[in-house]
Amino acid sequence: MTDTLAAARYARLRWNSPLAEDHADLLLDRLDLTADTTLVDIGCGWGELLLRAVARTYNRATGIDSDPLALDRGRRAAVERGLVDRVDFVEEKAESWRGTADRAICIGASHALGGTRAMLTALADRVPSGRVLVGDGCWATPPTPAALDLFGNEFLSLADLVAAANSAGWRVMHVSTADQREWDDFESRHRAGQQEWLLDNPGDPRAGEVREWIDSRERVYLSSYRGVLGFAYLVLGR
Ligand SMILES: C[S@@+](CC[C@H](N)C(=O)[O-])C[C@H]1O[C@@H](n2cnc3c(N)ncnc32)[C@H](O)[C@@H]1O
Repeated sequence: MTDTLAAARYARLRWNSPLAEDHADLLLDRLDLTADTTLVDIGCGWGELLLRAVARTYNRATGIDSDPLALDRGRRAAVERGLVDRVDFVEEKAESWRGTADRAICIGASHALGGTRAMLTALADRVPSGRVLVGDGCWATPPTPAALDLFGNEFLSLADLVAAANSAGWRVMHVSTADQREWDDFESRHRAGQQEWLLDNPGDPRAGEVREWIDSRERVYLSSYRGVLGFAYLVLGR
């Protein structure tokens, strides 16, 4: 029997980062893909952006992630869109994938490559010549004690993120950040699948736990990191 709670978890998310559709189109434009460029998405989740990249240029692509449920969602989407021969979804740890490509995407997954600075260096090995699209947390304002309690000091400011990219040998082709509407939409969608499940399943034994998770995520976002934690998108070239 399908676990409707597991299925609901990410159901309302288009992708797992604060990103509007027109912003995604802009980032894919800057990635400068052609039919001949190979593309890898490291920490792809269900690979929505990867699939859109392939749909527009019909190139070959690989999505790497350690979450089999996310990868299955990506494979189903590839079948539905007629892209199954173009995209491989591979269950593998990001750090152990040793291939190379002309382009890479790594959004919301810097932790999988050892953190921001280590990711920028690791991507240089994976893309010896070409472009990468990186999406990573960064402080939009100096971090408050509450935000530091939650996230530790693992993020950089936008200026330091760009400097770290330069130090890793990248030229910065594009910089943009998620705006407040993108963040609010992302956070709302993050909760929405489980909110809907809760309304449909008030008597389920897991309902209390789910309600607590939703309420806590909502409260912590609004009181501790809304407007403090930012999210930057960089297109880098070398
Ligand atoms: C915030 S999500 C972002 C997913 C996707 N890039 C997107 O924007 O929709 C982070 C992803 O990293 C994956 N991940 C975490 N640790 C990983 C690892 N060591 N190797 C591969 N993937 C990993 C998670 O499974 C998750 O899908």
